[in-house]
This record gives sequence, structure tokens and C-alpha cells, in this order.
Amino acid sequence: QPKIIIAIDGHSSCGKSTVAKQIAKELGYIYIDSGAMYRAVTLFALRNKLAVDGEVNEQGLIDRLDEIKIEFRFNPENRRNETYLNGENVEEEIRQLPVSQHVSPVATIREVREAMVELQQEMGKNKGIVMDGRDIGTVVFPSAELKIFMTARPEVRAQRRYDELTAKGQEVSFDEILANVIERDRIDSSREVSPLKQADDALTLDNSDITREEQLDWLLQKVQQLT
Ligand code: C5P
Repeated sequence: QPKIIIAIDGHSSCGKSTVAKQIAKELGYIYIDSGAMYRAVTLFALRNKLAVDGEVNEQGLIDRLDEIKIEFRFNPENRRNETYLNGENVEEEIRQLPVSQHVSPVATIREVREAMVELQQEMGKNKGIVMDGRDIGTVVFPSAELKIFMTARPEVRAQRRYDELTAKGQEVSFDEILANVIERDRIDSSREVSPLKQADDALTLDNSDITREEQLDWLLQKVQQLT
């Protein structure tokens, strides 16, 4: 069967990565979390005081972009690709609130995006890949065979993220998470470089009121219609 590229874009915290991982597993494809790459750059910025209290020193970060090496390495124990920043496993740390609170401004920087897009296109050159993000169907792989645009109501998304974090034992406030979800949508959709927008040829998937199983079935059906 010919391998294809599946691009999954959409709003924050609507379960893009869950469904992208499931579909990659079903098809034996590689899954790439493009958001993890922007998160790793943001962690570098935070650690080097180039992002402080919601403010990002853009030029400072651009000047040091060549010091940032991002990779994914397969962990056989959990069978997952994990994110590495300059050789260090940062998979856990990039999911924490400080990174979430600074990642959208970092992701507005043109030079950061150019570097990430180049890496992403390289990863997809042999197809057989599922990538999720904000600009995968519009900028990274405009000729992807299957493009999905995912969304869900903000309250539903905030609740899922809240449940996820509290299940990990973190003490978080629902209102703070909801505010972060809404604020990231606003920045992601209104930025000048590669704003979050639905590709003309993307299929919409609103999963506010459907189960994960229904969602996966729907997606597998779309893939089968193509291959
Ligand atoms: O997908 P995730 O929520 O982890 O992504 C974190 C942030 O990275 C997003 O809020 C967005 O600002 C940025 N991002 C992006 N382009 C992508 C993936 C993520 O701008 N392709």
C-alpha cells in the first residue's frame, strides 16, 4: 500500500496527539508531535532567561537558535518517541505550565518557525508519517494526502487538560487552564507567520461530543478511502 502523509492541525488541547498516535500505530506510521519542537525551543528560552514572565527576548533567541538541537528518540520501554533538547530527554518538562505559558509567543518568531519547518519536512520526506500541529496542512506539507482540522469547545478542552494534569498529581486550577487554552487560540490564530487556519482541503473533526473510539473509526475510514 502506498504510504501517505497525514496532517492533523487544530486548536490547543483538543486531542490531536492522542488521535495522531492511534492512527500512526494502526497504520505502522511514524508519529511526529510538531508542538513538542516549539515547546523544546521554549524550554531552551526559559532556561537561558530569554523568556521571563510571559515576555520573550526575540532577538536573543534568534541569535542562539544554532545552539538548539531537537530530536526525537524512540523509547522501547513505553514504545514512544520522546523529545530531546541538546541530548537531554525533556519530554516531561516541556508539558509543564511554564512552557505552555511561553510557547505561543516563541512560536510567532519567523526564524524559529523556519528552522522547525525545515526539520519537519526532512522527517516527512519518506511519507508514512502522521504529524500534528497548527500549520502542517497549510505550510509544512501543503500536499499531504489527508488533512484533518480538529477542534472542540474551549471548556471541553480545558477540562481534558485539567483531568490529565490532576491525574499526574499536579495541582492546577481549571480557570487558569481555560484561560491558557483561550489565550493560546487567540495568539495562534492571529499571528502573522503561519497562523492557525484550516486548509481549504482539510476535513473538520469536532470531537466535543464524540468518543475516542468514534473518532478513530471516522479517521480510519477516511484513510481507507484514500489508500
Ligand atoms: O500542540 P501543542 O499545544 O503542544 O503546541 C504548543 C504550541 O506550539 C502551540 O500553542 C502553538 O503556539 C505552537 N505550535 C505551532 N505550530 C505547530 C505546533 C505548535 O505554532 N505546528
